[in-house]
Amino acid sequence: MKIIHTIAELREWRKTVGTVAFVPTMGNLHAGHMALIQEARRQAAHTVVSIFVNRLQFGQGEDFERYPRTLEADAALITVNGGVDVIFAPDEKELYPNVIQQYQVNPPAIADELCGAFRPGHFRGVATVVSKLFNIVEADVACFGKKDYQQLAVIQGMVNDLNMPIRIVPVDTGRAEDGLALSSRNGYLNEAQRAEAPRLYYHLCRMKRAIEAGERDYSKLAIETVADLRVRGWHEIDYVETRNAISLKPAAAGDKQLVILIAARLGTTRLIDNIEVQLG
Ligand code: PAJ
Repeated sequence: MKIIHTIAELREWRKTVGTVAFVPTMGNLHAGHMALIQEARRQAAHTVVSIFVNRLQFGQGEDFERYPRTLEADAALITVNGGVDVIFAPDEKELYPNVIQQYQVNPPAIADELCGAFRPGHFRGVATVVSKLFNIVEADVACFGKKDYQQLAVIQGMVNDLNMPIRIVPVDTGRAEDGLALSSRNGYLNEAQRAEAPRLYYHLCRMKRAIEAGERDYSKLAIETVADLRVRGWHEIDYVETRNAISLKPAAAGDKQLVILIAARLGTTRLIDNIEVQLG
């Protein structure tokens, strides 16, 4: 397993191999990321994982500075999980040699809803760094987690609209035994918050069961969830939404493929989660 820090060296390596599957990450890896890596290994003869904490996608006052940077532990975890061919870990100057990245990828209006409404510019930062990484790695396939459902939709839309020669493979959300979606940000939770955090998934499952049983008043379900979360000490409940799973537009009567999405804070930690619902 090579750890490569420069674009030039990565490009040299790329010339020497056949098909490549790529997993972009910000590091501080956990079992959720390992599921993406396993899927990547199934998809192509060679695998690349990138580790880069992308300043562009963090807003003012977000956790860019304190985001955990744990390259050694990440490499060790990848190794015990069977390894990859390359870990690409560029530093900031390598990816952003100019103070401002002047050319950026501007996603459409759907990226200004849900998380985008609360994190202005976030998906522009994501789409920009992912397109740079795609241009550097020149992979055949890239794996993205459904944990970040809106991100997956934005990347799939970017690849379609800009004719990027890469296939996007979605991977199911990895969860702890109590249901909490695995996330690097779970490390910010104290013991009591960690015990409370699975409540998000509890409500996603509750709402899904209700919809499967025939409930179509999605806002009633959301109001119940928000009320319960508030009582239990959650705050800044950014959204509890039932959407069309493909377009991410608000669910319309007759939509069969739905996704319920939640974002809320426990203490200072913003958690997101979602669940798909297939009707009929
Ligand atoms: P990061 O949060 O490190 O996530 C990297 C990839 O792992 C994403 O595709 C994300 O959806 C996936 N992932 C995270 N937790 C997961 C879980 N519990 N189950 C399944 N997949 C999970 O997402 C980013 O980094 C960045 O925005 C990035 C795409 C790298 C661009 O900077």
